[in-house]
Amino acid sequence: MSKVALVKEGNIAIISVQRPEALNALSREIVDEMDVLIEEVKKDADLRCLIFHSEKNFAAGADIKAMAGCNEEEAKAFGFSDVYDKIAELPIPTIAAIEGYALGGGMELAMTADMRIAGESAKMGFPEVTLGIFPGAGGTIRVPKLVGPAFAKELIFSGDAVSAERALQMGLVNRVVADNQVLEEAKKLAGRIAKRGPVAVRMVKEVITRGLEEPDVNKGAAMEAEQWAKLFNTYDQKEGMKAFMEKRKPVFENR
Ligand code: CAA
Repeated sequence: MSKVALVKEGNIAIISVQRPEALNALSREIVDEMDVLIEEVKKDADLRCLIFHSEKNFAAGADIKAMAGCNEEEAKAFGFSDVYDKIAELPIPTIAAIEGYALGGGMELAMTADMRIAGESAKMGFPEVTLGIFPGAGGTIRVPKLVGPAFAKELIFSGDAVSAERALQMGLVNRVVADNQVLEEAKKLAGRIAKRGPVAVRMVKEVITRGLEEPDVNKGAAMEAEQWAKLFNTYDQKEGMKAFMEKRKPVFENR
């Protein structure tokens, strides 16, 4: 039976893991299912934002029981990086809406998202070293980029889970809301993003991603300026500025 669901609400999509008996721990099969749904999201030109949200627990990590007996080759095949990289590279903005536990491979999934919203009693961390491994699905790369090396090392070396409040202080999450408001807040933010010029939003996501990988600030700024000017070829730029001057809301056409 399918353990991952994709729901579309207007131009927002929500992907959820449905394995409550194991606190939504992620097996390779679950991540493969997610991969298929990510392909569907990629093909749907009407979607403007993707939310990852699972009931009660975001995900208590990769499935330890399925991983325990792996040899090196099997561990490589089990690893989630192929799919997680694909998620991180999605052209539309993504939000992880975190309730309960987001640990290990679960938190690494949240790290592939552009933004994270956590419930006040969420617990987040990377307990891999307690199992004799370390985060292997992008954690060692994405966490230091987000919170800096010192906080990343504290989280990853200690294996301790942190509260939502502490995660907010570190910059691991964007905001903390009441537990029962996590999905609502994510939808509200997604809804606001969905109203903006879609070509500009997609393009600026790519520009920010490329900019973060560009060590030369001048080269980064030149790339930004080039992409920015391209938007003046779009219908949506004409419409956005015309609507401003006519004191009305723009009607963007994604072109
Ligand atoms: N894998 C497999 N099963 C898991 C799991 C996981 N990551 N996390 C929880 N479960 C299962 C438990 O085994 C248990 O199943 P049974 O009833 O069949 O024993 C069920 O979910 C409920 O869990 P608990 O009884 O343990 O619930 P709890 O409330 O007492 O504790 C918890 C919650 C602290 C999150 C605890 O479940 C826990 O420590 N889980 C493991 C967390 C972890 O180490 N995650 C990292 C995995 S490694 C990884 O992700 C590698 C990577 O980089 C890709």
